[in-house]
Amino acid sequence: EKGGYEHFMIKEIHEQPKAIKDTLTSRISEDGQRVVLNEVSLTKEQMKEIDRIHIIACGTSWHAGIVGKAAIEQLTRVPVDVEIASEYRYSDPIITDKTLVIVISQSGETADTLAAMREAKRLGCARVLAITNVVGSTIAREADDVIITWAGPEISVASTKAYSTQLIALYLFACYFAQERETEGAKEVPEILNALKNLPAQAEKVLQTAPAIEAFARAYADKEDAFFIGRGLDYAVSLEGALKLKEISYIHAEAYAAGELKHGTLALIIEGVPVIALATQDHLYEKMISNIVEVKARGAYVLALAWQGDQEIGKTVDQVITIPRTLPFLAPVLAVIPLQLLAYYASVARGNDVDKPRNLAKSVTVE
Ligand code: F6R
Repeated sequence: EKGGYEHFMIKEIHEQPKAIKDTLTSRISEDGQRVVLNEVSLTKEQMKEIDRIHIIACGTSWHAGIVGKAAIEQLTRVPVDVEIASEYRYSDPIITDKTLVIVISQSGETADTLAAMREAKRLGCARVLAITNVVGSTIAREADDVIITWAGPEISVASTKAYSTQLIALYLFACYFAQERETEGAKEVPEILNALKNLPAQAEKVLQTAPAIEAFARAYADKEDAFFIGRGLDYAVSLEGALKLKEISYIHAEAYAAGELKHGTLALIIEGVPVIALATQDHLYEKMISNIVEVKARGAYVLALAWQGDQEIGKTVDQVITIPRTLPFLAPVLAVIPLQLLAYYASVARGNDVDKPRNLAKSVTVE
């Protein structure tokens, strides 16, 4: 059942090229110009009415939502709030009949997400769109519209292919929303769709970083702390990298918006602390390099994640892992893979139960 892999998690990490491809299939028009989301019944007129979006989710799905916010806002300029479900439902959220609510849940059964969705409906939101991996789940049944992520069953408690396919679903929706609202950003849609189509093959290439990541994970497996830093979308991916590492390796990890380090956390950067620095956002690259210099000066061991062909970053950091070039906007889909591998190999090196980390359940159906 594990298809020759030692754990479900590593199997599922390797399934991502296919999962991404399956989630894209039949959702791009043949001429590559438009998104086709027949499952979404929201009309053009209804989409034009929407003036605010709330994305609601927990954990890894919430991290996907943070990327979704950036994608939707960039292409449509409609303001998006990304909320943790267990907070949202008790926060007396401001909802009108022009608020579109997007709930993201791999399982479609997470109690807090379901309750938050019901609360949003009760308060009279325009519509609920669910992004889920389980056809017929409670969230899928109660939502007005559903975009299924075709990741296939995810067995490992640590979510991997669900996250990357949630990103794909969010990018597709962002493009669709822009195209139907005929926004300025809609002009970018064909280029984005073309880049999306290349992601499965590129993800396959990123999987080849596994041996280098494994060596790094083994060398640092006895550390008690690690830091993930990035700016913009790299920060969103950092949050996911840190969660994954904590969840299965039990190494304490923090994700930091790189510019925020000097406002406190830099005090924790001492000799030999591993820092994973993401540098895929071109418009933030120089700023990111300065932040890396700051942690290097305190003795951190820096593993950078950068684009293939980056000739600069190696001069500043200790080790570089590269990913093939795509639009910086889509970088999270590729950048998360080495971070998933890192968590996996660190967990294996520490002798943990990778697929069933302590204290956690796959589907959190209690509040
Ligand atoms: C982390 C993880 C959890 C889930 C969260 C939400 O690897 O799997 O953080 O993402 O419990 O679950 P779903 O997406 O099923 O609502």
